[in-house]
Amino acid sequence: MPKLPTYQTDHQTITFNNSNRQIQLTIITPEIIRVSENRGDHGASYAIEGDKETTTTYTVKQQPDHYEITTAALTIKVDAAMHIDAYDAHGNPLVTDYRGSRTPLDRGIDEEHKKFVQEEGHNVPGADDQNNPDYFQVVKDLAPDEQIYGLGDKTGYLNKRGYEYDDWNTDNPAPHLENFTRLYKSIPVMIGLKAGHPYGLFFDNPYRSHFDFGKENPNYYFYSAEAGNLNYYLIGGKTLKDIVTNYTYLTGRTPLPQKWTLGYQQSRWGYSASQKMVQDIVDSMHKYDLPFDVIHLDIDYMRGYRVFTWNDEAYQGNPKKFVTDLKATGTKIVAIIDPGVKKDPGYNIYDQGIKNDYFVKDPAGNVYVNQVWPGNAVFPDFGRQAVQKWWGKNDQFLTDMGVAGIWNDMNEPASFQGEIPQDIVFSDHDQPSTHKKMHNVYGHNMAKATYDGVKRATDRRPFVITRAAYSGTQKYSTVWTGDNHSIWPHLQLLIPQLCNLGISGFTFAGTDIAGFGSDATPELLTRWIEAAIFSPLLRNHSAMGTRAQEPWAFGEPTLSIYRKFLKLRYRFIPYLYDLFAKESKNGLPLMRPLVLNYEDDPRVRNINDQYMVGDAILVAPIVQPSQTKRLVYLPAGKWIDFWNHREYEGKQDIVVDAPLDKLPMFIKKGTILPWGAEVDHISETPDPTMTFNVYGDSGSYHHYQDNGLDFKYQHGEFNDYLVNVDHGQVSVEVVHHGFQPYRKITVNLNNQPVTLTYNSTTEHYE
Ligand code: GLC
Repeated sequence: MPKLPTYQTDHQTITFNNSNRQIQLTIITPEIIRVSENRGDHGASYAIEGDKETTTTYTVKQQPDHYEITTAALTIKVDAAMHIDAYDAHGNPLVTDYRGSRTPLDRGIDEEHKKFVQEEGHNVPGADDQNNPDYFQVVKDLAPDEQIYGLGDKTGYLNKRGYEYDDWNTDNPAPHLENFTRLYKSIPVMIGLKAGHPYGLFFDNPYRSHFDFGKENPNYYFYSAEAGNLNYYLIGGKTLKDIVTNYTYLTGRTPLPQKWTLGYQQSRWGYSASQKMVQDIVDSMHKYDLPFDVIHLDIDYMRGYRVFTWNDEAYQGNPKKFVTDLKATGTKIVAIIDPGVKKDPGYNIYDQGIKNDYFVKDPAGNVYVNQVWPGNAVFPDFGRQAVQKWWGKNDQFLTDMGVAGIWNDMNEPASFQGEIPQDIVFSDHDQPSTHKKMHNVYGHNMAKATYDGVKRATDRRPFVITRAAYSGTQKYSTVWTGDNHSIWPHLQLLIPQLCNLGISGFTFAGTDIAGFGSDATPELLTRWIEAAIFSPLLRNHSAMGTRAQEPWAFGEPTLSIYRKFLKLRYRFIPYLYDLFAKESKNGLPLMRPLVLNYEDDPRVRNINDQYMVGDAILVAPIVQPSQTKRLVYLPAGKWIDFWNHREYEGKQDIVVDAPLDKLPMFIKKGTILPWGAEVDHISETPDPTMTFNVYGDSGSYHHYQDNGLDFKYQHGEFNDYLVNVDHGQVSVEVVHHGFQPYRKITVNLNNQPVTLTYNSTTEHYE
């Protein structure tokens, strides 16, 4: 029998040694175990901040041919060949090393084809491993009944099994279809169900990496990285929800946003070239009775695309007045900032960066130049604290103007004259490193610098939107899925994309509604606003030169339908905000795949055209042209049609009508839903009343309320209401009282309103 490795334990770390390898297991919590092997890389994690290790009891047992390391939730077996196998508390295999033979890598790809796929942004199979001593793979068994989710906003379907993906943040304007292996973000977490048993696997290594989920061979999946340490986290839990909660315990959760950020946002590349154009959009939003909260300013508001400048002349010499006046009427401005700084001696940002040595350089020590929107540009070295501080301070230029949110773009980093060479010197936690290592965390560090800068400059919860991200960026920024197109496949894509982002920790996400590139049609715009109406970030954005796609661009009936859905969105904002309050504690996303709520039902494991909002709402949008009926799968339970209140038994497929103005939606029976007032934007003054709609005759619901703006809630300034309906008997209790309560609460029970008034003496609703 082969000899087992030796081992030593040091607190919660067990180090296994044999003649050629040293592998460490670190018990982080009973449900999270880290597997690592030092391969010469150094530098702390970008995804995980602070010490996540909690005191955990575990045992190490020696068996004849392996060791068993056991916590209350996981057992890891380590054998003589240092295979690592993870099981749940009942002995079900979760993540086990593949020991069979491999499919040869030669897949007969000729050079020309290789060049084509490379240019198209597709992966070249096997290209990474050639002659690279730092390259490594982790190969695990793929069971016949195994689904793999997560990985952020990759293309394709909810279940990633059978496909391959790359993590190398990439800006590629071609339509992102299912054969596209990489996009703007690297979120290397897999959330899996193996024969129905949930697990998570997080590979925390920023180098370029590749996932093959059974494409090469259906018996295994593998992860490979070009360099860096072997460093992955095995995550257990009783349910998929536990896995997401544990993963977000490790990498962090989206903090509670300002409430208005959940309002509708209108954008288009080109608007911001003049005050008049922005004002016209605002006026049209009002004229057409469309509720909204935000207008975005794309790159045209700047002076020659110089970041942290404003083309004052195009804003009547006083952009601050314009932004402030808009704010007074309830419209907030979000402005874009790209990382590329125009190479332009005499321009203050460029000069400061050069003087203080803040830009990345080539190995010979010359500041590195590539091209982005402003032409020749240089790139801040965000891996340095001083650079992050400087950048964050520059954001004050915008916050002082009254700008309410900052949109970070092009931070993969994108560059127009070829990709930045791998050896350009980028810092890693203040130490000189390379673009090769820092590429995938560049956007993360930029978003963090922006978040910190805005937080220092204002007393508000920062609203940052980023295109590039790494695992953990959710702590600092909202994300959008980049440059999609006005095509039906991209409307279809938004469901699996936002669902997978959600279970990968990024709940605050959205797509460019109606598509960025290409030309929208009235039907596409209509179906897109319907499908996306619960997407946490709700922004219509399009590229310059494409057909206009504002809500009124196609006249009627598009405008009226669009209006109806925007009004509906505002009704649901209290529910969405409640879900954010919960998410900030348990990491569970607002928009979620059915499998997250019903993992035991094999029918829901790869549903790509339905999603849920929290536990209560099931949404089944139309994502095909000319379709006016569709099949909807209802999981276990009883469901009530939102529109006509018809009740359905679950565990069946039903056919529903969906004319152009209808989004099929079902509410789980037993739900109590907060129902916001009809408003034209989210006000900064507290709501005086609140309404709850009851679906069924019993249920209970926690509702959260605070000022929706700043951090006072962290010091107890919030209310937690418990609404209870028991066979028609209504009661409301303020379980935590730290904020001015609603004067009146109305509970609608089978169309019978029950109104309760707050008695400030007894502090009860009566
Ligand atoms: C990028 C962004 C897009 C933006 C454009 C101009 O393509 O993804 O949203 O409009 O740059 O700034």
